Amino acid sequence: MSSPMKLEGVALDTIAERFGTPCYVYSRAALTAAFLAYRDTLQAHGVLARSLVCYAVKANPNLAILNVFARLGAGFDIVSGGELARVLAAGGDAAKVVFSGVGKSRAELRQALEAGIHCFNVESASELDQLNAVAGALGRRAPVSLRVNPDVDPKTHPYISTGLKSAKFGVAFEDARSLYRKAAGLPNLVIKGIDCHIGSQLRDPAPAAEAVEKVLELVDALAAEGIVLEHIDVGGGMGITYRSDEPAPHAADYLAPILERLAARSEKLVFEPGRSLVGNAGLLLTRVEVLKPGAEKNFAVVDAAMNDLMRPALYDAWHDIVPIVDAQHAVKTTYEIVGPVCESGDFLGHDRALALKEGDLLAVLSAGAYGMAMASNYNTRPRAAEVMVEGDTTHLIRRRETVAELFAAESLLP
Ligand code: LLP
Repeated sequence: MSSPMKLEGVALDTIAERFGTPCYVYSRAALTAAFLAYRDTLQAHGVLARSLVCYAVKANPNLAILNVFARLGAGFDIVSGGELARVLAAGGDAAKVVFSGVGKSRAELRQALEAGIHCFNVESASELDQLNAVAGALGRRAPVSLRVNPDVDPKTHPYISTGLKSAKFGVAFEDARSLYRKAAGLPNLVIKGIDCHIGSQLRDPAPAAEAVEKVLELVDALAAEGIVLEHIDVGGGMGITYRSDEPAPHAADYLAPILERLAARSEKLVFEPGRSLVGNAGLLLTRVEVLKPGAEKNFAVVDAAMNDLMRPALYDAWHDIVPIVDAQHAVKTTYEIVGPVCESGDFLGHDRALALKEGDLLAVLSAGAYGMAMASNYNTRPRAAEVMVEGDTTHLIRRRETVAELFAAESLLP
């Protein structure tokens, strides 16, 4: 038997003993390394001084994670008033926040204006009017950017493609100029920039670079008619590795073709990476509850489920699943790794060759992004604990929910 798998200096079996399973475990060093890789690439291309890296909070909104990035100087890309509250609670700077999303409520527009955010990424003509009205009522001027839809295929999963014409996101490329003219005519708006985000988990940067090229043409056309933009926001989207046999994308490679197109410009730059800053920095620790051999399939029922990590059920996403203690010479069996939730779609992995016994611990890898962020209480399952390791130290950054908390806000009829 080999020794148990570690994250930084901490053996994962000790985390399972102390905090129970399922449990998300993150590495502070890996979070920091991912952020610095992004920053170093901007530095290498000579654009760091005019760049703002806004971590996309939706990927993992835990306060401790936001705080790690805030301390590194990050800004934040938010999509709700709730995320804004989290950023401020975690020590983030409102002046470095950009607010994305197709359906911001008036209350959220007000909240963000009062906080003094950097920019609203506006996605429709109506939103321009609503923001103008809310800003006027507050006696303020709202900084705006228009999210344009460059109609480029990001070649990723259809559920996470956002830049095609058929998407609900952004304003049509052809309509952008007239919308900028409209914005210029609204008294309570200040035009700041332009943004685009074509999709997520992009392993090839070519579509993103193509989108930037289209955006630059638009920026120049706008300048020719007197609408001069201060910043260009190229969104997020850089992919991570989900399987050990696939090379991990590096910020330097992914960003190069994008930054080559931006290096000669003078505008400020905004980036909205989410997954690439947290995805490979976290894993989901789970324990095998029941082994259930079957005529066609063998099932390993673990204590994590689709409510904890929805990506396999929702996108048919692959996450590597590895034992915490490698039973090196034991015979492997092919298992369906499933959770206890009452749905056939409740699986974490298909056809995994593993040597398992009941009580073994497994790690579901690359689970730092859109894992806990999309967790639910389906089947009245308390959400997992979250732990951050830092060298030899372990910090509980979110305790496991209790069942009583799950229905504390509900009431019986009189
Ligand atoms: N900016 C905007 C406007 C976005 O919509 C997104 C992600 C990001 C930035 C961050 O993109 P990233 O760097 O993380 O690719 N739940 C899905 C991913 C949904 C992404 C939604 N938008 C998943 O688990 O794969």
